[in-house]
Amino acid sequence: MANQINEHAAYLDPILIRRQHNPNDLLQILREAQEHFGYIHADAIDYLCLKLNLPRSEIEGVASFYSFIYLRPQGEYRVLFSDNITDRMLGNLDLMQSMCSQLWVEQGKVSEDGLLSINTTSCTGMCDQGPAMLINNIAINHLSQQRINTIAGLIRERVPLSSWPAEFFVIDDNIKRKDILLGSNFQAGSALQAAFKRGEEATQLASKNSMAHMVDPAALDRRADATLQEIKLSKLRGRGGAGFSTGMKWEFCRNATGDAHYVVCNADEGEPGTFKDRVLLNSYADMVFEGMTLCAYVVGAKKGFLYLRGEYRYMLDQLQDVLKRRHENKLLGKGILGHADFEFDIEIHLGAGAYICGEESALIESLEGKRGTPRNRPPFPVTCGYLNQPTVVSNVETFASASLVSLHGGAWYASIGTENSSGSKIFSVSGDCEHPGIYEYPFGVTVAQVLADCGAKNTQAVQISGPSGTCIAANEFNRRVDFDDIPTAGAFMVFDQSRDMFEVARNFVHFFAHESCGFCTPCRVGTSLLSNMMDKLAHGQGSPYDFVEIEKLDSLLQSMSHCGLGRTACNPVLHTIAKFRPDYDKRLTHKEFAPAFDLDRALSQARQMTGRDDAGAHLEASDESK
Ligand SMILES: Cc1cc2nc3c(=O)[nH]c(=O)nc-3n(C[C@H](O)[C@H](O)[C@H](O)COP(=O)(O)O)c2cc1C
Ligand code: SF4
Repeated sequence: MANQINEHAAYLDPILIRRQHNPNDLLQILREAQEHFGYIHADAIDYLCLKLNLPRSEIEGVASFYSFIYLRPQGEYRVLFSDNITDRMLGNLDLMQSMCSQLWVEQGKVSEDGLLSINTTSCTGMCDQGPAMLINNIAINHLSQQRINTIAGLIRERVPLSSWPAEFFVIDDNIKRKDILLGSNFQAGSALQAAFKRGEEATQLASKNSMAHMVDPAALDRRADATLQEIKLSKLRGRGGAGFSTGMKWEFCRNATGDAHYVVCNADEGEPGTFKDRVLLNSYADMVFEGMTLCAYVVGAKKGFLYLRGEYRYMLDQLQDVLKRRHENKLLGKGILGHADFEFDIEIHLGAGAYICGEESALIESLEGKRGTPRNRPPFPVTCGYLNQPTVVSNVETFASASLVSLHGGAWYASIGTENSSGSKIFSVSGDCEHPGIYEYPFGVTVAQVLADCGAKNTQAVQISGPSGTCIAANEFNRRVDFDDIPTAGAFMVFDQSRDMFEVARNFVHFFAHESCGFCTPCRVGTSLLSNMMDKLAHGQGSPYDFVEIEKLDSLLQSMSHCGLGRTACNPVLHTIAKFRPDYDKRLTHKEFAPAFDLDRALSQARQMTGRDDAGAHLEASDESK
């Protein structure tokens, strides 16, 4: 027993020391501990209970919440196929099946020799280069039958990932259209310089005494005020979906009282079909971190977090390097760019495969090392966020845009886009088009324009802003993407005439049922009921009665769900019923209610196995018994 504990102490102690035995870092500790064996050993949990002074139930409760934290041994090679609708359209399930049969393993199980496990996971944020998979947290895209055959061979030969062909791990930015943000050629530090200059000018004007404010504790506040005014003037709105005014958010947080203020960048990017934050962090990280630093300057924060989704683990080292460089260049740390009274640091926390952690209050819970359960709101994070202190949570693109505002001024920014939707928006374009990738436009672009630019032909529908967003049919392609018409967090999935929109909606509701955090009953049960209803329709047991049930379920979920996931879960079904009814009608074989359970179908496998594959035989048998 003592030996076993020692074995775990050897790798856990350095992690615990680095994390200062801080229970708020529990998720990060578990994630790092898991890298040792590929799962968290039961004895390791005992050791963590002891060292963190936490009950076992709490550690197991947190670990079991996240789909990328494992409490049981996994294969040496952990393969997860991305299962967004765009991966499906590119044949991910056939590829997975082929890999399972080549390597003699069942989906969802670990092979008997412990070599590998294969399963599906929600969208990995690679829809422009799918079908995609994660293998031991590393992304491999552009899967083809040939690539799968090679991967199966490499696994069979136990070749370490580090010796696999380098081209397997290439992830393209795929930027197809740049506008003010992606085309800005941003220089690290320039937005901060602009903010400081503006602040100096404002204080000089106010006091006519440029030296006095350097020792005045309120001076930093006054200087930062100029940046806040610029952000408000820009009319910048959050890019995470809801479109809340960024200036107001920063102001609320700045005015809230607390022991400390925090800045959090939401890089959870879990909405299927969205991958623009991946590109911003890969190639525009300075712009994002600088936006966070500007926010810290305004709200008076000393500490910030980048919450990076577990699927983007491969970017961790390069992002740490950017942070290190920013430290060396005095763009982070104490005395930023010579301003002795301004100190700010950014820490990266990794998520672990839970879509709900993109919801800002669930994200904060997760940052605090807990299960990602959304909090009651109000109070909102701006007054009661990380460790119950005032916290700004904003999307990656919002922070990058804030850098641009500081650099070029609020009036310039507000002059781009539309009256209520200033600036530009980055779209993640995927699906049936010739050029999937990243497209940046001023707000107000029409759906038709984006379709023309990405080479979409015979388009039947576009799903904007992911499963929880809006499904647009061809007669609406002249509509505009902005906060007045179609708001979006970024996803733009294209479906041509060959696609069955019922199956699209079915994939989305399965996603919601899978990702419901289970905290509130209406959503936990309602999303499962909804996906069962869609399966029932798919199996030809639906009737018009099911549509009535779906509408009832929608009003229940809308009114009773604790957070946005439950409230929007029925959207994909309702939108596609309204716009693509024939795809549903062709499945209605019953006029009256039909039960989901079909005895004949349930028995068919048993009949096949016993060689009595004579459908209807059981009916004759029961007739005889009368
Ligand atoms: C279920 C759910 C998932 C969400 N996922 C994300 C996400 O991945 N990224 C994000 O920025 N916002 C996400 N949001 C919105 C956040 O709660 C929050 O509004 C946003 O991070 C605020 O940033 P913004 O002001 O820059 O838009 C999600 C919301 C819900 C309800
Ligand atoms: S609505 Fe769903 S995801 Fe949101 S808290 Fe309730 S169970 Fe969790």
